[in-house]
Amino acid sequence: MTDVVETDVLIVGSGPAGSAAAMLLSTYGVPNIMVTKYSRLADTPRAHITNQRTMEVLRDAGLEEQVVALATPQHLMGQTPFVSALNGEELGRLHTWYTHPARQADHDLASPTAMCDMPQHLMEPVLAGAATARGTHLRYDTEYLSLTQDDDGVTATVRDRLRGDEYRIRAKYLIGADGGRSRVAEDIGLPMVGRMGVAGSINIVFEADLTRYVAHRPSTLYWVLQTGADVGGIGMGLVRCVRPWHEWLIVWGYDIDGEPPDLTEAYARHIAHQLIGDDSVPVTIKSSSAWTVNHLYAERYQQGRVFCAGDAVHRHPPSNGLGSNTSIQDAYNLAWKLKLVLSGAAGPGLLESYSAERAPVGAQIVERANRSIGETGRIFQALGLLSTEDPEQMRANMDARKLPGDGPEKQRQLLREAIAFKDYEFNTHGVELDQRYRSAAVVPDGTQPPANPRDEELFHHPTTWPGAKVPHAWLGHGAERISTLDLGGHGRFMLLTGIGGEAWVAAAATLATALGVPLSAATIGPGAGYEDLYGDWARLREVGDTGCVLLRPDNYVAFRSPGLPADPEQVLGAALHRVLGRD
Ligand code: FDA
Repeated sequence: MTDVVETDVLIVGSGPAGSAAAMLLSTYGVPNIMVTKYSRLADTPRAHITNQRTMEVLRDAGLEEQVVALATPQHLMGQTPFVSALNGEELGRLHTWYTHPARQADHDLASPTAMCDMPQHLMEPVLAGAATARGTHLRYDTEYLSLTQDDDGVTATVRDRLRGDEYRIRAKYLIGADGGRSRVAEDIGLPMVGRMGVAGSINIVFEADLTRYVAHRPSTLYWVLQTGADVGGIGMGLVRCVRPWHEWLIVWGYDIDGEPPDLTEAYARHIAHQLIGDDSVPVTIKSSSAWTVNHLYAERYQQGRVFCAGDAVHRHPPSNGLGSNTSIQDAYNLAWKLKLVLSGAAGPGLLESYSAERAPVGAQIVERANRSIGETGRIFQALGLLSTEDPEQMRANMDARKLPGDGPEKQRQLLREAIAFKDYEFNTHGVELDQRYRSAAVVPDGTQPPANPRDEELFHHPTTWPGAKVPHAWLGHGAERISTLDLGGHGRFMLLTGIGGEAWVAAAATLATALGVPLSAATIGPGAGYEDLYGDWARLREVGDTGCVLLRPDNYVAFRSPGLPADPEQVLGAALHRVLGRD
């Protein structure tokens, strides 16, 4: 018997990044093993906001319906109030997660999917379940200890925590998806920027029927602002809905420079009752845990044959709900590249584009999430809470806004503006959808990314600029309505053209065979199989009828041509050679 187990890809960690990577690799037919230190998947809700880009990954993988069936839908997510307690005074309210009627249109136009609230302890079983059903070997109680790599592969030493013995797993590639204390990232020496432990937080998961305090303003988040509370005299607590309206998660701060609080059940119940504002509500505490707000990202995600994904390379607070979304999208970027390199269709250079494309995204979201925390200070300022530490004075300052006169009118205006400014935490469609890639796996066409006519963080701007995700447009296909995103994906390249672009289709067929690359083509136009029923695709595609848009398996635009060149096969072949790293 040998003590070395062999596979193509070893994944360390079964969180959103690891489970998504395993699920996608198995979907693409790549043999893989996923190990996780613990005997279970996530046992607390943690991440929950699931944005449209993540839903598109799940749709491509055939898991969208399963997630929609388990998740809280968007229409119950967005009446987000700022209150003194759930039964207390309401200071203001914000339409979040694109539930404002004007933003709902932006949301619906951008994607065939809808965002939702899918708690992490429900998401991980969907991802890991599909992974194992499609071929992943999942090993619980298996701890990654160390790795060595050579020209042909990676050898990892792991410990079976049940039996206590160690064995080795030999893989062609390894993905370190081992979270915010990533040993893999440390072992391969990824350069990190920023710091851990910026602030202290406590999570309290509990059951309580809060219907009477929340059902009239359905929201995923209820912000509770309490004077005289633990940290700096102001407490900004978050009561987050896990299951409407009886399961909850409170996020509450503690002073990271002091002793961490003793997380007894009595303490947790006290905080829950304090934020609800009604001690008579029966509360069942399920768990409490302390964690820290981090501000750290890796400048590079790869070292040789080892890649890191998820919190291993971007660590930040939950603001903007970007953590597990970005983790799943990291996996989506990497999985098809590993598939094509392992199958010989692409050169190993393709894998370098993973870091080039995803590291800037990681840096951006870490900065965005941390900035959002600071911006909450505007609300404190508007309420007059930063000029004193005396709770009585704070309450008086807050109450001043109820008075007539110029001063209070100004205060009311500042509060309205401060709450509206939280759009940059809760309605950042551009941050979520407009991640643009610049790498060798994209063929620039000499144009600059088109300027977003609106605020680029708040608003999505669809474009076929190479390096952007293909714009969503509904098309008619027989009696069916399908999205441009549905034409792409499925682990293959897809070329989209229009009437008069048939030579692109012929070129794609020839090149698919010649290069051994999964590549299909579709003509969109009257009588061509895919009808641009609403004219949306013609408005969005930024190329002519005889032009083409080449999509990578992750639906990002690899290459586009405004029209038909003299030799489309040569032009398309050159683009594919470049993207696949076969030059
Ligand atoms: P994650 O930490 O989930 O998983 C790491 C995995 O590695 C685990 O399976 C662990 O067992 C394994 N592991 C670690 N060391 C190992 C070793 N040596 N050997 C083997 N296995 C090992 N995000 C978001 O998108 N939207 C949101 O709304 C929120 N909200 C939110 C709220 C709160 C309170 C928190 C604390 C966090 C969030 N997040 C979030 C963030 C989100 O939870 C986080 O970004 C993801 O869990 C990261 O997923 P990963 O898979 O990278 O790591």
